[in-house]
Amino acid sequence: MDSTRESGPTGPDAARSSTAEETAAGRTPADLTTSMRRAFELARRGPAHGPNPRVGCVLLSPDGQVLGEGWHRGAGTPHAEPAAVRAAQEAGADTRGATAVVSLEPCSHTGRTGPCTEVLLAAGVRQVVHAVEDPDPVAAGGAATLRAAGVEVRGGVLRDEGEDLLRTWLHAVRLGRPWVTLKLAATLDGRVAAADGTSRWITSRAAREHAHAVRAQVDAIAVGTGTALADDPALTARDAGGALRAHQPLRVVLGAREIPATARLHGPGGELVQLTTHDVAEALHELGRRQVRHLLVEGGPTLSSALLRVGLVDELHAYLAPVLLGAGPGAVGPLGISTIAEALRLETVSTARLGPDVLVVARPLPSDRTTHRIPTEES
Ligand SMILES: NC(=O)c1ccc[n+]([C@@H]2O[C@H](COP(=O)([O-])OP(=O)(O)OC[C@H]3O[C@@H](n4cnc5c(N)ncnc54)[C@H](OP(=O)(O)O)[C@@H]3O)[C@@H](O)[C@H]2O)c1
Repeated sequence: MDSTRESGPTGPDAARSSTAEETAAGRTPADLTTSMRRAFELARRGPAHGPNPRVGCVLLSPDGQVLGEGWHRGAGTPHAEPAAVRAAQEAGADTRGATAVVSLEPCSHTGRTGPCTEVLLAAGVRQVVHAVEDPDPVAAGGAATLRAAGVEVRGGVLRDEGEDLLRTWLHAVRLGRPWVTLKLAATLDGRVAAADGTSRWITSRAAREHAHAVRAQVDAIAVGTGTALADDPALTARDAGGALRAHQPLRVVLGAREIPATARLHGPGGELVQLTTHDVAEALHELGRRQVRHLLVEGGPTLSSALLRVGLVDELHAYLAPVLLGAGPGAVGPLGISTIAEALRLETVSTARLGPDVLVVARPLPSDRTTHRIPTEES
């Protein structure tokens, strides 16, 4: 459900107040939700990986015409609002009195690009509507800056949908650690390798291609040294033809044992980082410091259970193959659970058929999630 956080305008436009039916700029909530959904659509054109959020912006004239649209194409490129203003200006549109409908509260800080608030003010924007407040302590405060300059700001329009779009980024910024997706490829009896340790391939080509598409969307992939040594994985994101995709996630190995120089992990692909700690919270903190927003953990059982035991898995991707082994390691190691009442229960988010296999996406119930913030140097 949407909730609308409204605070009255200040400054020269203070006389204009909004009601639930009509905004100060004369637009109905229905107009705004349509434009906000378009802003979400634009946001999805941006990359899912990277330190910055995916943001889309629609600029509307006072009579509701679309003047320009923009989205963020990744770190170092213009944010969605300046992109929309530029698109409008290039089309020869007059942006004075416009409404900016944007999926995330405009930033008010100078990073690799300037503050979006300044661009919107310079363009003469009269109203800003956003879905989600910016939780980043460095970039937040855009709404207050705009209000102080007399712009009407309306937050929380389609907030839940906006939060869903920004799930991994919001989580990482709020908690100071990446969103952790744990991937398992298991038989129907929950085994990830045969008794002799062999595990290639339990799942089908379709399932593996799906897993590669997920790799291309994350910032980093992690395995324990056990998997690195037993399977010699490359941990690269490849297309169906086996070619490296444009984006290669950081490759992370957790554990003390040395990775041989001949390992595929040293071959072409993302940067390789070995974290010799067994403290998974510390490892996630370090990855958060490196601006990893989304981490894909690909096993093995020891690392997976270490994360699950302390509530540091946010989503599970279980690829289940119609295969039985009867012996061999289970998908996760011991979780410290001795009786059924203590079972770690998850809620299924989606299921998909991938060739002969099934993908179950599930998340721990809120009570089983660790939502405490990992302290950072800044906090
Ligand atoms: N089908 C699948 O989805 C899948 C996926 C991955 C692996 N596998 C299979 O799993 C098997 C390997 O299992 P595994 O459990 O040895 O793999 P693992 O979890 O990748 O590695 C375990 C090792 O990682 C280090 N480590 C890192 N963090 C740790 C922590 N918090 N607690 C304890 N140790 C930690 C330890 O080694 P150090 O002594 O070096 O610190 C530990 O021995 C292989 O047969 C592989 O094929 C299957």
